[in-house]
Amino acid sequence: MKEKVVRKAILPAGGLGTRFLPATKASPKEMLPIVDKPMIQYAVEEAQACGIEEFIVITGKHKRAIEDHFDAAFKLEESLKKSGKKKLLEEINRLSHLNFAYIRQREALGLGHAISRARPFIKDEPVAVLLSDDIIDPDDTLLKDMIHLYEECKAPVLAIEKVPMSDISRYGVIAGTLEKENVYRIHDLVEKPSPESAPSDMAIIGRYILTPDIFEILENLAPGKGGEIQLTDALAGLLKRRTLYGYLFTGKRYDAGDKVGYLKATVDLALKNPEVSGPLKEYIIAVAERLKH
Ligand code: UTP
Repeated sequence: MKEKVVRKAILPAGGLGTRFLPATKASPKEMLPIVDKPMIQYAVEEAQACGIEEFIVITGKHKRAIEDHFDAAFKLEESLKKSGKKKLLEEINRLSHLNFAYIRQREALGLGHAISRARPFIKDEPVAVLLSDDIIDPDDTLLKDMIHLYEECKAPVLAIEKVPMSDISRYGVIAGTLEKENVYRIHDLVEKPSPESAPSDMAIIGRYILTPDIFEILENLAPGKGGEIQLTDALAGLLKRRTLYGYLFTGKRYDAGDKVGYLKATVDLALKNPEVSGPLKEYIIAVAERLKH
């Protein structure tokens, strides 16, 4: 395969978001705000910081708000201009140079199925995949580090994190050999194993650098755990053909697809936001005092 740079990202957003019902009954989970931005915008900004300017968003039913969010909003812009709200105007136009393509996943048949929908947009180049409900601390460089590793080894790179064994059955899990600091050569992948059968405590989290040979495998894959087309199963198939690497993330990640993870992300990211951090901090201290009694 020819050496190529990572220019594109897939943002799967076709899931049903059942853990957030009823909020996600008619609105996308990916549009739930963390402080003042929807979750999916954090993922877009993270990829943009790595030089990625083309996004393929996999959508489904009730996901139109995502398209509107990244589209121009002429009436709003006019109104902000008239009222002299320059900063807000800049803010809503900050991502306007990025390109977005949208593909509907007609049925939520799994993450692997969602990613396979992007094939016509990827052709023969590597691509980043970001699950926007996994929020990575915006000061972290996980995706950049993964892209550097891809450039060095020209192999797919999966972000991995050590998780408590009590949580392991929620994840795809790898077994691997440490090659150098934070880099594992993968020799096994299992989707949602039981704690007893898990090959390690290293879980795959929502950042991937994939190579286009994954698509052929995805398209011929039978449903796996939960009756879904699982990306982990496709990666296990790819592992039979080529080397895969795991990049161990030791920074801060929030599983914002889960209610508690979402609330933690909201608190921590609000504390980093100068507009709200002062009064919020006072409030948190007051709540902590109240909880002591
Ligand atoms: P999740 O496992 O979080 O599933 O998907 P979900 O449907 O979004 O949420 P819950 O578990 O029902 O609450 C991980 C990522 O994969 C995408 C989701 O949109 C999310 O970004 N996904 C999942 C798809 O795009 N299509 C699918 O069929 C399944």
